[in-house]
Amino acid sequence: MNRIPVIAANWKMNLNRDDAKKLAASIAQIADSRVDREFIVFPGFLTISDVHEIITGTTISLGGQNLHYEESGAFTGEISALQLKDSGCSHVLVGHSERRHYFKENYETVNRKVHRALQDGLKVMLCVGESLEEREQTITEMVVVDQLESALARIALKNLKNMYIAYEPIWAIGTGKNATPEDANHVHQIIRKTISRLFNEKVADEMRILYGGSVKGENITELMQQEHIDGVLVGGASLKPESFASIMDYK
Ligand code: 13P
Repeated sequence: MNRIPVIAANWKMNLNRDDAKKLAASIAQIADSRVDREFIVFPGFLTISDVHEIITGTTISLGGQNLHYEESGAFTGEISALQLKDSGCSHVLVGHSERRHYFKENYETVNRKVHRALQDGLKVMLCVGESLEEREQTITEMVVVDQLESALARIALKNLKNMYIAYEPIWAIGTGKNATPEDANHVHQIIRKTISRLFNEKVADEMRILYGGSVKGENITELMQQEHIDGVLVGGASLKPESFASIMDYK
């Protein structure tokens, strides 16, 4: 199966407007020369419109890092799917481990967010991954399968084409430790099998499954050589033009 590689940048709670614009401009230049890959950038909410202006007309897609599961209403401080779309977003991250951990998003919240985003026309990048404790207890597979089953509950088959899965082992995020390419590939294979079991083999084959956790220029090539790794979701190394350029341009 020939799956188009996806390189995604999650800027998290970083960068002011000026820095975000500069970084977006440098990413836009590289993207123009790499039409064989898909690029998505997830800036902080307050810089989304600025980044949108810069990347309009390029092949880069724009995404929100989070959304609320209701369509609109009295939810002070929250952002809706329709507001994200109105600001130029086509994508949204759902279930990032930092949301699950620090903001207590549970299986049900994540599932509701997936439903809302798809219903309102956003493509969803669903994040899953185990903690260090869970890895040491050798329950990675169980945790990831649980996360997938709950997040994808009652999602219609036709919506799967608007989804990506990002496998981000929590112990590898921002720590400089990354899963070995073989370990990551093994979990990606489990994810693909689970999608196949829950839906069918065709959508599982087509699903892009990204790896995230201390991805950098030095390890991307080996990661991307793995059969089931179809892209990367990058945090820290996406914040500097040079380091992200080396990831976008991997051989
Ligand atoms: P790092 O690349 O900083 O480890 O972050 C990964 C991540 O959480 C991307 O969503």
